[in-house]
Amino acid sequence: MKTIHDIDFAQLYRTHMQAAGGREKPPQEWDARAKEMGKLTGTSSYVRDFVERMNLDGCDTLLDVGCGTGAIALALAPQLKRVYALDYSQGMLDVLMKNARTLGIDNVTPIRLAWEDDWRDVPICDVVTASRSTTVMDMADALTKLDAKARRRVYLTNMAGGRFIDAEVAELLGRSRPALPDYIYIINLLYQMGRHPRLDYISSDNRLAGAKNFDEFVRKVTFAVGALRDDERERLKAWYEADPQRSQRGGAPFRWAFVAWERSQS
Ligand SMILES: C[S@@+](CC[C@H](N)C(=O)[O-])C[C@H]1O[C@@H](n2cnc3c(N)ncnc32)[C@H](O)[C@@H]1O
Repeated sequence: MKTIHDIDFAQLYRTHMQAAGGREKPPQEWDARAKEMGKLTGTSSYVRDFVERMNLDGCDTLLDVGCGTGAIALALAPQLKRVYALDYSQGMLDVLMKNARTLGIDNVTPIRLAWEDDWRDVPICDVVTASRSTTVMDMADALTKLDAKARRRVYLTNMAGGRFIDAEVAELLGRSRPALPDYIYIINLLYQMGRHPRLDYISSDNRLAGAKNFDEFVRKVTFAVGALRDDERERLKAWYEADPQRSQRGGAPFRWAFVAWERSQS
């Protein structure tokens, strides 16, 4: 009889990711977004929801993987002795360090590395986070790395549902893609690694939310689905103008799965 224990979730995830057209973005694509992402606009409800689910008891050090411009790293730095902020985009790290200086935070060390690199020199920290940064081609490898670098606890968010942009917008553009593999693989992989993950959800703006005008909306859509043809741009414009409130939200809200596990019981 076959049971769930016979399923190779690591392989299943990789196969699903490839079949769904997942690809590794070159860091330059993120460099281009860093300035816009890094504007200091105060703590977002997503960051509040993430941070309030964490337990920092007994923790002095943090490794934040795929840190971007520092949403999580900078929110936590004042409570910690040292924060290591890892990202493969130099543009993101530059904005992160600029934001740290503006906020008077001086305990952040940037590390320019990719998920896929050798992490031999990455320090082991009390707590490890990976917020909105786990869309990787090899999830088993990513989870093993997070787990190995955590002395006490790991917290990550991963998509729930497999689609980053509103289904209606994707369909309107004829870009409905198969759903990407989501958090349910992570739960199963951690189970197979002998961990006991806890699961929660955070609802937030989707990736197309908050555009100030149609051009900015097009930039967000292009980042998510690739370059648009003229006819697609026109259909998008009709959708954008039909309901300004909906356009402001970018369509339906996005749901993140929040996954946490203890590394040791110390
Ligand atoms: C959506 S942002 C999230 C940033 C931040 N953690 C947050 O929650 O706001 C994703 C980040 O992951 C980084 N990233 C994407 N692929 C990566 C890879 N293969 N290795 C390292 N970082 C990566 C990007 O440069 C970007 O900064």
